[in-house]
Amino acid sequence: MKKYCIILIVILTLNGCQTNTNNTKSNIDIINMKVDSLLNIMTLDEKIGQMNQYNGFWDVTGPSPKNGDAKYKYDNLKKGLVGSMLNIRGVKDITAVQKIAVEQTRLGIPLIIGNDVIHGYKTLSPIPLAEAASWDLKEIENSARIAALEASAAGTNWTFAPMVDISRDARWGRVMEGAGEDPYLGSLIAAARVRGFQGNDLSKHNTIAATAKHFAGYGFSESGRDYNTVDISKNTLYNIVFPPFIASVDAGVRTFMNGFNELDGIPATGNSFLQRDVLKEEWGFDGFVISDWGSISEMIAHGYAKDGIHATEIAIKAGSDMDMESHLYIKELKNLVNSNKVDVKLIDDAVSRILRVKFELGLFDDPYRYLDVEREKEVIYHPNNHKGVLEMAKKSIVLLKNENHLLPLKKENQTVVLIGALANDNNSPLGNWRTNSDDNTAVTVLEGMKAYPKNKLIYRKGADVNLNDNGVVKFHEKVKINESDKSGFIAAKNAAKNADVVVMVLGEDGFQSGEGRSRAKIDLPGVQQELLEEIFKVNKNIVLVLMNGRPLNINWADKNIPSIVEAWQLGTQTGNAIAQVLYGDYNPSGKLPMSFPRSVGQIPIYYNYKNTGRPGPKNEVFWSHYSDESNSPLYPFGYGLSYTTFEYSNIKIDNKTLSIDNSINISIKLKNTGKYTGKEVVQLYIKDRYASVTRPVRELKDFKMVKLSPGETKTVNFQISEPSLRFYSANEVWESELGFFDVYIGTNSNANLNESFELTK
Ligand code: NOJ
Repeated sequence: MKKYCIILIVILTLNGCQTNTNNTKSNIDIINMKVDSLLNIMTLDEKIGQMNQYNGFWDVTGPSPKNGDAKYKYDNLKKGLVGSMLNIRGVKDITAVQKIAVEQTRLGIPLIIGNDVIHGYKTLSPIPLAEAASWDLKEIENSARIAALEASAAGTNWTFAPMVDISRDARWGRVMEGAGEDPYLGSLIAAARVRGFQGNDLSKHNTIAATAKHFAGYGFSESGRDYNTVDISKNTLYNIVFPPFIASVDAGVRTFMNGFNELDGIPATGNSFLQRDVLKEEWGFDGFVISDWGSISEMIAHGYAKDGIHATEIAIKAGSDMDMESHLYIKELKNLVNSNKVDVKLIDDAVSRILRVKFELGLFDDPYRYLDVEREKEVIYHPNNHKGVLEMAKKSIVLLKNENHLLPLKKENQTVVLIGALANDNNSPLGNWRTNSDDNTAVTVLEGMKAYPKNKLIYRKGADVNLNDNGVVKFHEKVKINESDKSGFIAAKNAAKNADVVVMVLGEDGFQSGEGRSRAKIDLPGVQQELLEEIFKVNKNIVLVLMNGRPLNINWADKNIPSIVEAWQLGTQTGNAIAQVLYGDYNPSGKLPMSFPRSVGQIPIYYNYKNTGRPGPKNEVFWSHYSDESNSPLYPFGYGLSYTTFEYSNIKIDNKTLSIDNSINISIKLKNTGKYTGKEVVQLYIKDRYASVTRPVRELKDFKMVKLSPGETKTVNFQISEPSLRFYSANEVWESELGFFDVYIGTNSNANLNESFELTK
C-alpha cells in the first residue's frame, strides 16, 4: 500500500483536490491533469505495461496459454508491466492480482479488470438477440444494470459488451450476441446497454465501463463464417454498420474493441481509417480501444504484417491502444520507439486514454472499491436480480403462430405432455456467453410447468440435441450432433397420443451459437425435426417452443404446427418465463429483431433491402428473384403476435409538407379486437423515394409500445422531423435530401397503412 500512497499523494498534490469522476467539465479537466501528471513520471516500460492485457492464469476464452505462460505473466505483473487482466473472476482472485499491481510495483497503478459480461454475470438474462426482441429499452437497460451490479460486486469493473454488430446472416453464430439486423433498433439498444452498464456515474462501485464491439463490420463476415473476410461498401458501412457505434459513443461508452475481420483488405486491428480517422477524430472518442483476442498477431496470418514487430507497428499506428493476448506490445513496442519507428506520442496518447478510464472508474481513489467479499455474497444471485431477469425473459418471447387459440393453455383438467431434451435442460438456456456463471443453473421448462399443478404433466425426452459427455458441452467444445438415436421416440409418441396438448421444446444446444459456432444448415439439429413429425402423426395439438441462438429454418413447422413460440435462450429464469407465457399469465409482446428465412439460400435476408432496377414480376423470368423460392422471409423483421388481436386503421398526417426546421404529426388508431389485455409495438417505417445514393425500400424510424384492454382503442401519434431522414449521402456527409417520402405504420416491417410527405426547405 505504501507505494500506492506515494503515487496518489503526488497526483493529488499536483492537482490539489479529490477525484470525483462524474462527467462534468471540471471533473474531466481534473482527470486530464491527473493523467498528465502521472504520465510525466512514468518510464517507457511502465507506459507500455499499461497497454498490455493478459488473460488470467486460470481460465480462458480463447486459445489456451502456452506452457510457462502463467509464470511469465505473473513476473510481468510484479514488474508493473500489466495494465489490465481479463477472465479473472471473483473478489478473492481479483484482490490477489490487484494487490500485486498496487502494492508491489513502483507506481502502484491499479489494474482494470475486464470480463465478458454479455447478458448477466451469474444471474443470466436472455441472450442479447432475445432481449432485442422485447423492443423494451427500459427493460434492456435494467438487464444491463443487473449485470453491472453483480459483475462489479464480484470485482469486474469493465465489460466487453455491448456487441453492437449488425448482422443479416443467421448462419453467423454471433448473431445471438447482437441486437439483430436493424441499425435504428440496434442503436437504441446499444445506448440502453451502455447506460445500464455505466450508469450515470462511472466512479460508483456498482457501475462498470462498457465496450462497443467489434469495430467494425464483423457481423458481415463472408458466408456467415466466423472470423471471415468482410467486403462491404462505404454506403453499407456508414448507413448500416456505424449507427450503433455512433449511438454508443453518444451514450458515453468508455471503450471500443476492434475485430478479427478485415475491412476492404485491411484488418480492423490495423485499420487507421476506422480507429483514428473515424472513431477518434471524427467522432471525438476519448476512451481507449482494446484489440480483440490475439488480433494484433493475427495480422500476420491475414497476410497484412510481415512478423510480430511489423504487426505491433501497424496496430499502434492505427490506434489500437491495448493489446489483448497477442503479447506483442510488451515485447516489441519499446524497440520500435527506441529505433524511431513509432513516435512516443502515440504511446502517450494510448496510455492517457487508458489511465483516464481508470481514473473515471475511481480506481485511483480506491483500487479495492470493487473488492468487497460481503457485497459479493450479498449481490450475486440476489432475489431482485432473479426478478429482473424473469421480467426481461418474458418480454423477450415472440409468439410466431397461434391457430385456434391453442395458447394460452388451460390451467385445469388437461393432460399436457412435454417433449424434448431441451425441456429438461438447465444448461442450454444459459446460452453460450455464460463464462462467469454457474453451469446447470437455469430453471427448466419442466420445472416452470410444474408451477401449474392442476393439469397432469408428463415429460418424455424423445431425443437428444447432442451427444457430448452425456449431453454436457463445454465452452471450448464442439457440439456433436446426435444424428441417429431415435430410441426415445416410441415412449414420447405413446405419451403424446392421449394428451390434450403436446408442448415440444426443440432447438439448439446452448453452445451451438456464439463465437466460432457458425452453421451452414440452420434446421433443427439432430433428429428433432423427425421427432416433431412423428409426434404430429399421433397428435396435432402441438405447441412448438423454440430454444435457439439464431433464426432457424422452420418451414415445415410453420405449415403444420398450430402454435409456435420463439423462446430463444432466456437465461436463468427460462422455465418460469416460458411457463408463464404458455399459461397466459404473461401475454407475449416480443417482435423479431431478425428476419427468419425460408431457406439458407435466401441469406442474407433483411427487411431494409434495396429495390433494385427489377423489383417486381413484370414478366416470368427477368426480375430479381429465385425460381425455386419466394423472395419474402418466413417471418419478417418486426413480426410477433399476441394472444389478443390488434386492428390498425385511420392513418392521418397533419401536414403533407415537412420543412427542415419543423415537424409533422402522423397518427393511426389501434384497437384491441381480442379477448386479452395486450401490448403492441407499433412500428413506423419510412421510404426515401429517390436520393443521391439508393435508399432501402423502408427503414424503421420509430416505434411505440401501446397497452390496450379488450375493446379499447387508442390514437398512436408519431412526430417526424428532418434529422430522422438523414443518411450518409453521395457527398459523403450525413444529410437529408429534399424530396418525397412514404411512411408506413403497422405491426411489422410489412406495415401497410401508408401516407406520404415532401421534405422542403
Ligand atoms: C474474443 C471475442 O471476439 C470478444 O468479443 C471477446 O470479448 C474476447 N474474445 C474476450 O473474451
